Amino acid sequence: MTARIIDGKALSARLRAEFRQRVGRLVDQGVIPGLAVIRVGDDPASRIYVGNKVKACEECGVASFQQALAADASEADVLAGIRQFNTDPAIHGILVQLPLPGHIDVRRVLEAISVNKDVDGFHLYNVGGLVVGNTIFPPCTPYGVQLLLETTGTDVAGKNVVVVGASNIVGKPMALMLLQKEATVTICHAKTQNLAQHTILADILIVAAGKPGLIVPQMVKEGAIVIDVGINRLPDGRIVGDVDFAGVREKASWITPVPGGVGPMTVTMLIENTLRSAERAHHLRKNNDYQDWETPSIKAG
Ligand code: GUN
Repeated sequence: MTARIIDGKALSARLRAEFRQRVGRLVDQGVIPGLAVIRVGDDPASRIYVGNKVKACEECGVASFQQALAADASEADVLAGIRQFNTDPAIHGILVQLPLPGHIDVRRVLEAISVNKDVDGFHLYNVGGLVVGNTIFPPCTPYGVQLLLETTGTDVAGKNVVVVGASNIVGKPMALMLLQKEATVTICHAKTQNLAQHTILADILIVAAGKPGLIVPQMVKEGAIVIDVGINRLPDGRIVGDVDFAGVREKASWITPVPGGVGPMTVTMLIENTLRSAERAHHLRKNNDYQDWETPSIKAG
């Protein structure tokens, strides 16, 4: 079997065309959706990711506001930026690009973002919402994977899904979202023994481990759907995922390429969350029901 390609670039382009129409409707009602991006330090990868996010905003008609802080900025500086954006009605989404320098407490920073503007879905409130199935903003990468899976026409209910990688950003929320859709979910991680024993059972295999070549054909069930979240730069400059694409393609029924699979969807879902936030804020404000929640009552330890 040769797998069909799940084309994240094409799906992103279709969604972004719809977003421009949604932005047009908001603008007609006097609302310009706005995303604030805070970056601390000079990590080259973060610079590229933030650049992609700002470009996507421009493409869709979303206003973007960047705050670039020096690597030695204090946690108080970051929190001050967040507080200002929390109460600014022109801002509907706030994103702090990770990783942050080691002297800054990531949890304290993420918990300071208003849950109404947490378009990355990293605040404890949104993370907790995934457990019971009613988060306001699903995290962007797993949200994008969910839409990519939908394009295959597969109902995940009852399917064996194996998620390789247990990060807070991808693996754990991905597992919870698919559990909510009634899949049978296994999470594998760096300490998992005999990874292949798990992956071979997967009807749907989602790999987010950050290890090029981790998944080879012998580890994949004939006809499986394979989603590769990995983005790795090889010494020769090539960008590859975590899956041996050429080999696994001959066994899977569907597969995402890298680049052009999950990557573009992550940024696209960030715009989706920002638009939904703007639509939601506008609706709630009309009904006098919107609160620019500054730090909610939950505090990181
Ligand atoms: N760093 C790597 N991925 C992400 C992401 O999805 N959001 C943020 N804020 N930082 C990241």
